[in-house]
Formats: sequence, C-alpha cells, structure tokens
Amino acid sequence: MNEKGMDLVEAIRREEEARFPMVKEDPWRLRFHLMPPVGWLNDPNGLCQADGIYHVFFQYAPFDPEGGTKVWGHYESADLLNWRYCGTPLVTDEPFDRDGVYSGCAWAQEDGISLFYTGNVKHRGDYDYILSGREAVVAAARSRDGIRFEKNPRPLLTQKDFPESYTLHVRDPKICRRDQVYYMVLGGRKKSGAGAALLYESQDLERWSLKRELETETPFGYMWECPDLFETGGGWFLSVSPQGLVRGKYESQNVYTAGWFSVKGDFRGNCRLEGFTEWDKGFDFYAPQTFRDESGRTILIGWAGLPDIRDEYENPTAQRGWQHALTVPRQISEKDGELLSFPVREIDLLRKDGRELTGRTQFAAPEAFDLEIDLEEGADFLSVSIAEGLTFRYNGRETELSFQRGGENAGFSGIGRGRGTRRALTSGLRSVRILADTSMVEIFLDRGRQVFTARYYPEGEGRTVRVSGSVRRMTCWDMDAMRVDYGGMDGTEI
Ligand code: FRU
Repeated sequence: MNEKGMDLVEAIRREEEARFPMVKEDPWRLRFHLMPPVGWLNDPNGLCQADGIYHVFFQYAPFDPEGGTKVWGHYESADLLNWRYCGTPLVTDEPFDRDGVYSGCAWAQEDGISLFYTGNVKHRGDYDYILSGREAVVAAARSRDGIRFEKNPRPLLTQKDFPESYTLHVRDPKICRRDQVYYMVLGGRKKSGAGAALLYESQDLERWSLKRELETETPFGYMWECPDLFETGGGWFLSVSPQGLVRGKYESQNVYTAGWFSVKGDFRGNCRLEGFTEWDKGFDFYAPQTFRDESGRTILIGWAGLPDIRDEYENPTAQRGWQHALTVPRQISEKDGELLSFPVREIDLLRKDGRELTGRTQFAAPEAFDLEIDLEEGADFLSVSIAEGLTFRYNGRETELSFQRGGENAGFSGIGRGRGTRRALTSGLRSVRILADTSMVEIFLDRGRQVFTARYYPEGEGRTVRVSGSVRRMTCWDMDAMRVDYGGMDGTEI
C-alpha cells in the first residue's frame, strides 16, 4: 500500500476507535449478522474460503452512516461464527480508484488470494455521469497472507476494453472457472437503455479478452449491477441486480431487486437466459454474491439493504453511527431447476434453550431467536406476529410480510420505519423458519423456496410472538451472539 493509502487506513482506524463505543451500545446492534464496525456498509465483496479461512469483504464508508466514498472492509473466520475484523485492505489511493474502490470478487489459490474490483473515478463538473464524467476500470490486488493486499500498478481493463455500445456504467467483476479457463462477468448499462453483462475470458487471471455479452432477448431493466455467473447442482445460473424494472404486486416490489436467470445452453456459445426469479421477496435485499467453499457448498451472502430507499423507509441506526448489514450466509441448492437458499448449518450452532411450543398462541421470545413452524398438510392459514408490529401471513395462495404503520403524516413511524407490505405467490406451504435478530428478520419458507428479509426496529427487551393457524409443530430457540473480535478497539470483544 502506498503512503496515501496508509494515511487513509490510519484515519479510518481513528474514526473507528472514536465511534465504535457508541455503535457498540446500540440495542439494535446485530448479534449474528455482520455489520460495519462504524458507518455505512453495502455490497458483500470478495467472498471466498482460502486455506480453511472464510473471507468476507464489504463495501464500506466508515466516515458517514449515510454513505460516502467506498473502500473495502474485511472480516475473516474459520467457522462462519467467530469472526475477526481485519481493517480496510483496499482504500482509494490510486488515481484510477480515487472516488471509490467499488464492488468485486476474490479468487483463492494455494499461494494466496487475488481480489478484482472496480476502480471508480468521478470528474467534477456538469456531467450526466452516464455518458460522460466518470471512469470505471477493473483493477486487481494480491495477497499471500490473506490480510495485506498489494494492488497491481495498472488496471486489467479500462474503458477502451468495453464495447462502444456501453455507457460508462460497467462494473462489479465476478470470476468463475470452466475447463481450466477463467471467465469474468461485468455488469453494464447499454446506450440502448438495456442492462446486460459482459463476459471476458483469461488463461492467467491477468490478460482478459472480451468473449461475448450475456443479455435477455428483450430489455430487462436499464442496468445490471453485481452479476455473478455460477454453477450449482450441474446447472449454470446468472445472478444479477437489475435496476429499472417496473414495480409490481408480487415481483420487483422494491426500488431495485436481485435474482437469477437459468443459463440454458453453454454460456461460452449458444445460450439463452431463461426466467428470472428473485432471491428474496423482503424489503431489504440487494447485490448478493455467491462463492464455492472448500467443502463444495455454494454459499450466498446478500446486502440486507438497498440503495435509494430514502423516500420510502429508513434505518434509524444511522443516528447511532452505523447503517446496514449482511444477511446470514445462505447455502444454495438446486431442486428441480429451482434454487433454494437456506441458512448454512453453522447458524444452528448459535441455538440454545430450545422450547417446543406446539399449541401455544402467544409466547415471549428474546430479541434474537430462531422459530421453526411446521404446518399441517394442506394448511391454508398461518399468521405470525412479532413485537406487535410485524405480521407474516399465509392464506393458501400468497404470503405477505407487513408492518403496521402510524397514522397519516406519521412519517417513518412504527417498527418498520416506513416499510409497508411485501408479497409472494406461495402455495402448498409446509414450513416456515424465522431467524430474528435484534433489528432484522429473515423468513425462510419451505427450507428456502422463498425468503423475506427485512430490517425492523422494535423498542425494548424481548419480543411478543403470536401465532395462529394450522400448526403441526413449533419450536423456538434463543440465539447466541456470534463473536466478532475488533482487535480490542475498546478493550473487549463483541
Ligand atoms: C451495488 C453497487 C455496485 C457498486 C457498489 C458501490 O450496490 O452500486 O454496482 O460497485 O454498489 O458501492
């Protein structure tokens, strides 16, 4: 890292030390989700497992919980439960990334980890920042120890390597390998107004050439962020976070969404992107990334948040010095052409004091709990309410997550802070698992056939849970906190 970088890392460290005590005292601080030490977090980046160690990097703006110039923060863990914060390995210290070390991925090898990211430059002036005024490059950094990274002096790809038909919005490299060849997808916005992905190939991870575009037959949004081409269960899939879809009653209910296409045919040759299934139907989910761990599992982590929600809902933790978090790691499995996403089994190890509650209609739970409900066969009704403000309902045809709102002109009142209702078409529901953290719920239907993620902000200790419907069996566990070592930032571990 150069001198400019080291100065910035030092300034970030001081900011973290100053603000961390306040963030640590926040009752809405999460117990089993990764969040920023201080400030703002968005996309998960560089997910990988190398030499047994899991690495989670993330888009990080430490100086302001409302955002700002992005650098990469870094957590590592041997077991996905005990984490260590490793600081900010990539900061804005090169001319080609001076306005943001944007999203990207990792590639782990025996001799270390390579990171691939977007270097963002924004010129000051009267620009539209679509066709003029910005630059994006694909840059790389390498590490032998998985902690300290050295950037390549020159970017791997610059604007001149992108097709003429693209605007200046090209970013978010993600790498996969097939038959000993590396492939990189980049998300893009075409001048025609359509979102698409660019596919590059390489033999050595250094020299890349354009192979083709991956796009839908008819435009599907104006921009695809964070593309991710991956294989699981013998099939290939392209996950993207499209912007510009028309919002509907059951689909694309949020300002932006994220989901996957099935790649029919060979992505290197003749192929078609088929279908589009949203990863998550809740209020807070975007820019997910997958990786294959050393045991062969495909694991996905998403940003439990969204950009540009300001007019619709909010996260009051910003007043306490931090905003946003990541979802729990979700194992992806393929079943009859569908992708299921369900918490990795490590999360179960945080469960304690399991209570069988079958037959109960109301009970008290702590702020962090894991509730499993099995329904009767043919059930067509379930209602679960948490903390007198969040309701999850199923009626045999659809599921609905809704928050009670304050009166007219009440602003972002209520525990959903402006969040209203999100729906999914659901039939034949047999099981529901609600993972509730202090200020986040993740609801998994039928072991991950559908998922709802939402932030929420109940006051006080404990949560009242009410349940009615055709429940066959119900169990609730208290959830322990993960351990996150912040290097003695304030002398203690969290
Ligand atoms: C997605 C995204 C990416 C970009 C990053 C910047 O949320 O907009 O496209 O690289 O965030 O923080």
